[in-house]
Amino acid sequence: MAESTQLLSPNSQPQTTRSWRLMLFLYAMITVMVALILVQIDSFDAAPYPADELAKKPVFEVPRINPQALYGSERIGEGRLMGPEDLVYDPKLGVIYTGCGDGWIKRVSVNDLAVEDWVNTGGRPLGLALGYSGELYVADALKGILKITEDGKIETLTNEAEGVKFGTPDAVTVAKNGVLYFTDASWKYDLHNCSLDIFEGRPYGRLISYDLSTKQTKVIARDLYFANGVEMSPDQDFVIFCETPMMRCRRYYIQGEKKGLIDVFIDKLPGMPDNIHFDTEGHYWIAITTEHTYKWDVARRYPYIRKLLVFLEKNWKRPSVEKNAGVVVVDMDGNLIERYYDPALIYVTTGTKIRGNLYLGNVFNSFITRLNLSHYPAAAAAATPSSTKP
Ligand SMILES: *[C@@H]1O[C@H](CO)[C@@H](O)[C@H](O)[C@H]1NC(C)=O
Ligand SMILES: *[C@@H]1O[C@H](CO)[C@@H](O)[C@H](O)[C@H]1NC(C)=O
Repeated sequence: MAESTQLLSPNSQPQTTRSWRLMLFLYAMITVMVALILVQIDSFDAAPYPADELAKKPVFEVPRINPQALYGSERIGEGRLMGPEDLVYDPKLGVIYTGCGDGWIKRVSVNDLAVEDWVNTGGRPLGLALGYSGELYVADALKGILKITEDGKIETLTNEAEGVKFGTPDAVTVAKNGVLYFTDASWKYDLHNCSLDIFEGRPYGRLISYDLSTKQTKVIARDLYFANGVEMSPDQDFVIFCETPMMRCRRYYIQGEKKGLIDVFIDKLPGMPDNIHFDTEGHYWIAITTEHTYKWDVARRYPYIRKLLVFLEKNWKRPSVEKNAGVVVVDMDGNLIERYYDPALIYVTTGTKIRGNLYLGNVFNSFITRLNLSHYPAAAAAATPSSTKP
């Protein structure tokens, strides 16, 4: 008896295993099919990005880099600055203005790093621009374009153009002649859904102007892909604006021979640009929210993958496609000069150089990151393994 049981069991076990495997396989198949059907019937509709844009390869080789920008950095105002999205420096007061997720515009003293609650917009202040008489202009994602006087009075200047309400007012800059230039990242999506704009892949962004004397709002460029940071040129000739998923910045001429024209200022950035600031030393500092990763490249190519990622984000958790955020430094001719980034950084929304320090803002942090640039500068990129390859 004992022998026959021993003989039987080695034979019967593979059979049980086989039927278990079959069951598991069928179960997995059904789960995958149900999931695919659910993704298919989800109303989110992603579109292909233009083929000529997909053909462009981002440029990762930058003459000088600091690939570990968090090393040696400090956290400023930790716990008191919820998602400091943009940073703008007022040299007269020696403070950095920053807009936070709780509606506060805070002032951080660059000398003693004291944080002051200045004004609450009741919305979500994003891009900031300092006016020429101490006033601050704010692209508030929920309220529109605001002016805040030196003594803290808030005025809403505009919140729609051509009868279309702004979806996500994102960044603003001011010309000396009293015209504001600002972006509406997406008229379709509001602040809470604006990342869907990039996953959808259709151009709902606009570059808009507002004349402070005539109070007129005018659309300058439409059909932009997630219109983001804007910055005046130092001689007031043109405005630079970023299109995040296209990894480029374009230039709108406001005077001179090319007045009214738009061309490309810098293309093939190593990642997705956000805010942009001029440093008065001849350089633009462009925040890179994420490097152009292989995973994002695949998602950008295939609308179905983007639809799937949005489905996962809505119903569960989206796998991360972001890394190596930071900032690039670009000269007046649109050449990449330096890059600061770190594998652990994502969603850097702004970077600016103030008195020898680099300050980074980030929508998901509760602090500003500061790096002493004389201690931790970008160095010749030849030292990195990737660029020493033959
Ligand atoms: C944005 O998201 C909210 C809630 O998540 C939703 O109620 C709203 O309809 C969304 N808006 C758009 C334009 O998708
Ligand atoms: C950077 O660090 C050096 C040495 O500690 C210091 O002398 C310099 O003032 C610092 N730079 C800034 C901008 O704080």
